[in-house]
Amino acid sequence: MMNDLSEQMKRSWDGGARNHPYFCVASGPQYLGDDIDYDRYYGSGEDAVSAMFLHAGWTPGERARALEIGCGTGRITQALAKRFAFVDAIDVSSEMVRIAERDLANIKNVRFHVTNGIDLKKFPDARFDYACSELVFRHIPSREVIRTYLLETGRILNHGGRFAFQFNGKRAWDVARLFTGSKYVLRSLYSSARRYLGLGHVDPGYTLAAAWRGTRFSATEVRRTAELAGLMVDQFIGEGSDQMWVIGHKPASTAGQRDGR
Ligand SMILES: C[S@@+](CC[C@H](N)C(=O)[O-])C[C@H]1O[C@@H](n2cnc3c(N)ncnc32)[C@H](O)[C@@H]1O
Repeated sequence: MMNDLSEQMKRSWDGGARNHPYFCVASGPQYLGDDIDYDRYYGSGEDAVSAMFLHAGWTPGERARALEIGCGTGRITQALAKRFAFVDAIDVSSEMVRIAERDLANIKNVRFHVTNGIDLKKFPDARFDYACSELVFRHIPSREVIRTYLLETGRILNHGGRFAFQFNGKRAWDVARLFTGSKYVLRSLYSSARRYLGLGHVDPGYTLAAAWRGTRFSATEVRRTAELAGLMVDQFIGEGSDQMWVIGHKPASTAGQRDGR
């Protein structure tokens, strides 16, 4: 089921990136088509990163290394590259990464990776001093994937490392989402059963709309999962909103492990 989900997320975001990559990242009619104001577009990434650091009240050390989850065309990545010694930026969509590599070709302290959109297995423990993600988790249609990213952040962050993640933290009971979610689960079960019986593959019917709508992840769920991951939540900004920011850190080790660079 996770493989299906990974494939579907890739297909959806690749499709969007082939047509209107900048619009898919920062929705707004000014970002439709190719003739966009790149200074304004990439400048909005600079504003976003300044705000993340303002809220975190933290300045990275000279050798600090950052991970960005869901980098899109590199709007945020290029601003991170000015503040960190090195940035690893991942995305489920190879089309998005292709555009990011083209647009940011002059920036040498960044490496882009196309990943499965599900976990951070390709990175070793305690690799990063900072992890961030904006406008991504709110589009992921699986709570399990969001939870995995948070748990994995506890593993890949250095002691003393920081994180800033944005979620759809809405509390409201949304019947439409429940309906979409159960429809996908039923179709996935039907699809798996057909494959098991040798009756051939049918697409579970997951659509770009589902990848775009994503799912909610409440402040309570963030707190619980962060605790399991060994992370501390320092503040929620816009708690309960569909653009809820969570800023936190991995506490310094008491066992003499290396603390933030
Ligand atoms: C709305 S764009 C935001 C891009 C970037 N964070 C920014 O703010 O400029 C969402 C990006 O997340 C990526 N994405 C969606 N689901 C993902 C997942 N499960 N893992 C990694 N990237 C994902 C999409 O391919 C897309 O590039």
